[in-house]
Formats: sequence, structure tokens, C-alpha cells
Amino acid sequence: MNRPLEVIILAAGKGTRMRSTLPKVLHPIAHRPMLAHVIDTARELGAARIHVVYGHGGEQVREAIGGKEISWVEQAEQLGTGHAVEQAMPGVGDDALVLVLYGDVPLIGSDTLRPLVEHSGDGAALLSVRLADPTGYGRIVRDADGAVERIVEQKDASADELAIDEGNTGILAAGAASLRRWLAALDNDNAQGEFYLTDVIALCRGEGHSVEGLVCADEEEVAGVNDRLQLARLERAYQRRQAERLMREGVSLADPARFDLRGELTTGSDCSIDVGVIIEGRVQLGDNVHIGAHSVLRDVSLGDGCTVQPMTLLEGVEAGERCNFGPYARVRPGSRFEGETHVGNFVEVKNSHIARGSKMGHLSYIGDTEMGARVNIGAGTITCNYDGANKHRTLIGDDAFIGSDSQLVAPVSVGDGATIGAGSTISKDAPAGELTLSRVKQSSIKNWKRPQKSK
Ligand code: UD1
Ligand code: CA
Repeated sequence: MNRPLEVIILAAGKGTRMRSTLPKVLHPIAHRPMLAHVIDTARELGAARIHVVYGHGGEQVREAIGGKEISWVEQAEQLGTGHAVEQAMPGVGDDALVLVLYGDVPLIGSDTLRPLVEHSGDGAALLSVRLADPTGYGRIVRDADGAVERIVEQKDASADELAIDEGNTGILAAGAASLRRWLAALDNDNAQGEFYLTDVIALCRGEGHSVEGLVCADEEEVAGVNDRLQLARLERAYQRRQAERLMREGVSLADPARFDLRGELTTGSDCSIDVGVIIEGRVQLGDNVHIGAHSVLRDVSLGDGCTVQPMTLLEGVEAGERCNFGPYARVRPGSRFEGETHVGNFVEVKNSHIARGSKMGHLSYIGDTEMGARVNIGAGTITCNYDGANKHRTLIGDDAFIGSDSQLVAPVSVGDGATIGAGSTISKDAPAGELTLSRVKQSSIKNWKRPQKSK
């Protein structure tokens, strides 16, 4: 039986313990809302339709997640997990297999879920977990033959049932037609006065169908988030998984516990990443790239042999091979470097194209600049790109030499091979091959005395 998969994600809970104005499911793991991770997993499973049951902060959740293909279902009053699933059922086809996931269980992986969605037959399949401390969880009650019989909630459980260490993850799968029938039969005659989704298991058995109980070996995958401590724990778990994957792919991490990837990282061979590095957005590294300690790279592409020295922030940067950045450099969006360039300490570059072999070693601001090849930018050079109202470009030709502490007042151009004398303010074009300087002529005043303190 090959049924289309429809995933229902419950996300209506208040999340009071987060103590936040942000709806719980929008709290991020690796910079993406928890709910987005769960939606990704549903997509990986090939879900034909994804239904999200929302309650609190519904508008905010829909806006943050976007996703035209999501069917949004409001649960105005939170009357229990069974009631929540029922709200989505009118939009689910009778021939579908329904999988129930949770917006606050973000690390659940498609590999773990695959046996559930491949489940066939008229019964149900659920995911459980063995826990050292199952307090708070519903318990899986199995019969003498070990078959799943029912689930009892913590608050409704007897002492014997509380001793069961097999907890309910809440994740289950069942055929839509059967599930619809069982949900309609739920009551709220229990300790919490809620319509429990978990009661469908006993109803399923009552009709003579079997329930497949799959035990998840990985506690983190099925862990839920109720407060910021649990969120931080799962963030670390998520990061550890990514770090381990990268190391298996051949990336050296100085310390996998001090590495954060909040996006996508692709690497060539033999890249190494020192401690405290944060990678965001889409980052692509060639072969033999080294990222120094405590650097942040956001939407960056670096060619083979590039080096990023410690404490450097690169954002929206594209660099060719063997470029060198930092320590303490900041490169802002729209910056493109051809090979073998050097951006040194306390240098800021923004929206500029830097051709091969050009160097700016110290204390400079280069903005809105088109720089040729083999240019040397002296320490303290500033492109004055902003006149208070508009931005203007600076053009610097190949082999130009800009003396230290110069200001290039844009729009302005410096010709090929031109030399700018140190300390110049260049507001008119400097011709190719010539020395241009704008300093006051140096003079010395004989017998000059320093001012004295008045008595
Ligand atoms: C539920 C299970 C329990 C399981 C545990 C795992 C039931 C009755 N119990 O208990 O067996 O061990 O999860 O964490 O299902 N939600 C809604 N609408 C509602 C109620 C809940 O969307 O009306 C959502 C919540 O946002 C949350 C999830 O469903 O994401 C679970 O709800 P919660 O109240 O936390 O259930 P538990 O009591 O933890
Ligand atoms: Ca819970």
C-alpha cells in the first residue's frame, strides 16, 4: 500500500516557560526557527502536504515561516493534542498516511521517521524512547507479548505504570481514515480534562489492529523544548552533530564544542577551523583554507589557500585563491577580491573590487572602490566615499602606491603606477605614473619656544 504522506505539525502551545513574546516554535536552533527544522524534515520525507496547527502568535508564525505550500490550521483553544490533530483532519485526504510531529521537537531526523512513514496496514505506528527519568512523559503500556497496548499519561498513571521507563515521544503515524474515526471517539475524561492524542492507541487496539512501537535510540532527536535551557541544550546537540559531520567529511575543527554553523558550509580538502568560529548563511571554502580563532564568516566564498587570521568579520565576500584577511579585519558586503590580496589589521573594506595582488595592511577604510592589481595601500588610507548625501566611487589603477595617511576624496581616480605622497588629501584625479602630493611644505622655525604655563 503506497499512501501519500501528510504531516501534521502541532505548534499551538503557549510556551509560557520560554518567558518570551516570540512564539515558542519560532525560537531558533542555528538561526532558524525550530518549526522550520521540523518542516524541513517533513519535506525530506516527501510529504505531499504539511499542515501546521498554530494557536498563539499565529500571524507571527505564518509570517516568519512563509511557505506557500504549508496548510495553516488554527486551533483557537488548546483542548489537547487529540483536539489539535483533529483541527487539521478536514484538510487531509482519506487515502493518506498521517504523521504527527511537533514544532518544539526540532532535532527529529528523517532517517528515524522513515520506518513510521513506511508503515502500512490499518493500525498505527508510534515512536517511543527509553528514559532514565521518564517523569512527565506518557508511558507506553505493552501487553504480555510485548505488543503496544495503550499510552497512559503521567498524571493518569498508577504507581506500576509510572515505573515504566518507555516514554511516548508523541510522534505517531496512522492511516487518515482510521485516525479520523479514532479522534472522533476521544473524550476528555482524564486528569487534565484534555482530548489526548495518545488515546487513539487504545482505540486502534480496540478495533483489533496492531500498533507498531519503534524505540528511538537517540534521546536528543525526540527531546522537546519548553524553556531556554532545553533550547540551549539542543542547540549544542545540533552543533555537535554538524561538527561531527564536517570532521567526517575531512574538515579539521580545533574544538568541535567551540564551533557554530548557522547555515550551510561547503569545503574543499584540508580546511581547518580554529576555536570560536561562527559560520552563517552560505559559506564556501576551497582547498586548504584556514579560518583563525573567533572569526565570523557570513555569506562568504574563499578560494584555495585563503587564510583568515583571528578576530575577523567577513560578510558578503568573494575571494580568489591565497587571499589573506585579518587579524582584526572587517569586510562588508559587495566585496570581491581576486587572488593573493591582503587585508590586514584594522582594515575595513566595503563594496569594492580589489584586483590581484593588492595589499592594504593596516588601519584603512576602502569603500566603493575599484582597485587595480598590485596596488599598495599605505597605513591609514581612507577613501572618503560619502559626502553626507551620496556615495561616490574611487578608482585606483594597477601598480599605484598610496602613501600612508592619505585621503582619497571620491569621486576621484588615481592612475596606473601613480604614487600618492604620504599624508595627502587627494580631491582631484592623480595622473598615471606621477607623484602627486598635497602636503604643506615642511619648514622649521628657528628659536621657537614651547608655550609656558602662565603663573
Ligand atoms: C505529550 C503526550 C505525552 C508525551 C509528551 C512528549 C499527549 C496527551 N501526551 O504530553 O504522552 O510523552 O507529549 O513530550 O499527547 N499542543 C497543541 N495543542 C494542544 C495541546 C498541545 O498544539 O491543544 C502541542 C504543544 O504545542 C506541544 C505538543 O502539542 O508542542 C505537546 O503538548 P504538551 O501539552 O506539551 O503535551 P505533554 O503534556 O508534554
Ligand atoms: Ca511537552
